[in-house]
Amino acid sequence: EFTWKLPDHPRLPKGRTVAVVVLDGWGEAEPDPYNCIHVADTPALDSLRKGAPDKWRLIKAHGTAVGLPTDDDMGNSEVGHNALGAGRIYAQGAKLVDLALASGKIYEGEGFKYIKECFENGTLHLIGLLSDGGVHSRLDQLQLLVKGAAEHGAKRIRVHILTDGRDVLDGSSVGFVETLENDLAKLREKGVDAHIASGGGRMYVTMDRYENDWNVVKRGWDAQVLGEAPYKFRSAVEAVKKLRAEPNANDQYLPPFVIVDENGKAVGPIVDGDAVVTFNFRADRMVMLAKALEYENFDKFDRVRFPKVHYAGMLQYDGELKLPSHYLVSPPEIERTSGEYLVHNGIRTFACSETVKFGHVTFFWNGNRSGYFNPELEEYVEIPSDTGIPFNVRPKMKAVEIAEKARDAILSRKFDQVRVNLPNGDMVGHTGDMEATIIGCKAADEAVKIILDAVEQVGGIYVVTADHGNAEDMVKRDKSGQPLVDKSGNIQILTSHTLRPVPIAIGGPGLAPGVRFRRDLAEAGLANVAATVINLHGFEAPSDYEPTLIEVV
Ligand code: 3PG
Ligand code: CO
Repeated sequence: EFTWKLPDHPRLPKGRTVAVVVLDGWGEAEPDPYNCIHVADTPALDSLRKGAPDKWRLIKAHGTAVGLPTDDDMGNSEVGHNALGAGRIYAQGAKLVDLALASGKIYEGEGFKYIKECFENGTLHLIGLLSDGGVHSRLDQLQLLVKGAAEHGAKRIRVHILTDGRDVLDGSSVGFVETLENDLAKLREKGVDAHIASGGGRMYVTMDRYENDWNVVKRGWDAQVLGEAPYKFRSAVEAVKKLRAEPNANDQYLPPFVIVDENGKAVGPIVDGDAVVTFNFRADRMVMLAKALEYENFDKFDRVRFPKVHYAGMLQYDGELKLPSHYLVSPPEIERTSGEYLVHNGIRTFACSETVKFGHVTFFWNGNRSGYFNPELEEYVEIPSDTGIPFNVRPKMKAVEIAEKARDAILSRKFDQVRVNLPNGDMVGHTGDMEATIIGCKAADEAVKIILDAVEQVGGIYVVTADHGNAEDMVKRDKSGQPLVDKSGNIQILTSHTLRPVPIAIGGPGLAPGVRFRRDLAEAGLANVAATVINLHGFEAPSDYEPTLIEVV
């Protein structure tokens, strides 16, 4: 008989405030000049480390430990926060799409049938991130989908690309575009009218998240739907090469462009009767475009034209909003998350981050579900992120503001759990600017200190961990671990996440005597944290959760 009621923990008390701090992009690596966390002054984290092995340890944050296809897949915030919040390992979007493509089931589903209805008279548009990063999308999946769509009757295909440079090396966009162009050329030989129609850098075009800046989505809309952009080229390879040749150009921020024919006319605006697929499997940076494509009533920017299309997402991106209503692959069914259990057991929760990571400790934490489980017991606070400037310009971001909100929530004694995400290691790490990342790491550490001090004052407990690596290694390495240099002798800066484990530390005056990390879970990962936190609230975790990291001796 199912019940939301959790049994009392036999040894651990209730009523302690538990602060859960997620340092975004904060992995563990050897001391090294490219390890920004090591180079930064981080006294708070250094003191937590001294608690090893009883109160500090490492846990896995990448690959199969978080539901990704293989252990060569670096961790990311979506799968990381899903695992942290849900306490179990779900096969994630990347893997579900792989399986659906390999079995061919993707072409039998409702979503594909829906877009296929437009193949006879309309164009199939595919919009998404063009890289093999495996965080939001994968090039090989796009290649299979393009080929499969043609085999299933698509006669006219237009791909709207977003260049990466964030989950992969900057400059790799050119190679990915060449690969895709090659595939499309082969399709053209077979009589399919297939072209790249528009593009732009992911951070400047389309892939904003959590409604930080709708202008980003608008720039994409203008290029993809209206066929209008400040730059026009005859081919996407030319576009990416020329735009990258501009001073300070960077794949993440390439300006929007459209591909035009010999008369200067855009080759692929989206019009009535077309089909559209957003081929990213990850939700956060596709939800805004999904709203623009799907919602009849929409006031975030002037769409100018709202084409009547059949639109499907690679996955359904938001289970609560049921957005989009059509999708090619069913998302992981993440249910009975720790947040939902805890509200059913009377735990009052406060969650906070700044805009660019706000959904991580709410939406992702709760299993890709927007909104509250019980608004009477939960309060989610979003601190507006700076918009329009790269994060290396203001690397401290809102870390202190987040920590102060958490501090106030802790000191108010109105909450049992106070949960934050501190974004610096990740957001600044993604810029590849090491000096700025070091400043960002120091700011995150100062924020941790503010929260630990508040925990101290109320006799609470802290859990400090991270969602995946980033700032601890800022250089691409060869197999032996040596930094790689490019043809011109420059060090290859790593803007992406890593395969590294992350730290977890527990402590605080409210931690019952004798609580320590178990010694028998060497392989533990992020999914083991939920049961741990539930224990620290004085409950036993649901029996199907990954085991708790702690024991009482
Ligand atoms: C992004 O979306 O910013 C990156 O692709 C992944 O970063 P995140 O997983 O830390 O959000
Ligand atoms: Co990141």
